[in-house]
Amino acid sequence: MKLHLLVGTMTGTAQLVAQELELAWADGELEVETMLMDKLDSSVFAREGIFLIVTSTYGQGDVPDNARALYEDLIAKRPDLSRLRYGVFGLGDRTYAETFNFGGRRFDDILNELGAQRIGERVQHDASSGVLPEEMAEKWGATWLALAKENQGQSTFSV
Ligand SMILES: Cc1cc2nc3c(=O)[nH]c(=O)nc-3n(C[C@H](O)[C@H](O)[C@H](O)COP(=O)(O)O)c2cc1C
Repeated sequence: MKLHLLVGTMTGTAQLVAQELELAWADGELEVETMLMDKLDSSVFAREGIFLIVTSTYGQGDVPDNARALYEDLIAKRPDLSRLRYGVFGLGDRTYAETFNFGGRRFDDILNELGAQRIGERVQHDASSGVLPEEMAEKWGATWLALAKENQGQSTFSV
């Protein structure tokens, strides 16, 4: 089974989460590929496997700068993603009450609109909670991986 972790980050926290998950999931059976979203476009979703979006939130509820090209390409091209299965680990801060975790939410909304099906609940890490995102990821990751394994085989998509 293949898992693609797509990372949207400004200061590297989301990347730490992805690294933690990659370490936790390295069991020989899984092929895990982590990519920063920089310069990716919607064709990345043509790859075989399940996707996990790991992204923070910036500005006024925007996706981070390195995620913008991918996010805007999805909106512009609107590919049919009905065979795509994905998860979302969002990072944010409840201090930004009006736009808490909007980065992850924006990706979730557009992928859902394009027909993709989310595996599990969308995670909303809160930087003001005192819980480290890597810790949260480690605990959540085991449950999500089990769900993802149940969904494998239904996750290929051709552009
Ligand atoms: C300038 C700035 C704007 C932010 N805006 C939001 C926001 O609108 N909503 C939110 O939930 N978090 C917001 N955050 C919090 C970040 O998303 C959070 O700290 C996250 O863990 C950063 O992850 P990163 O290092 O991967 O970019 C903001 C942080 C900064 C510094």
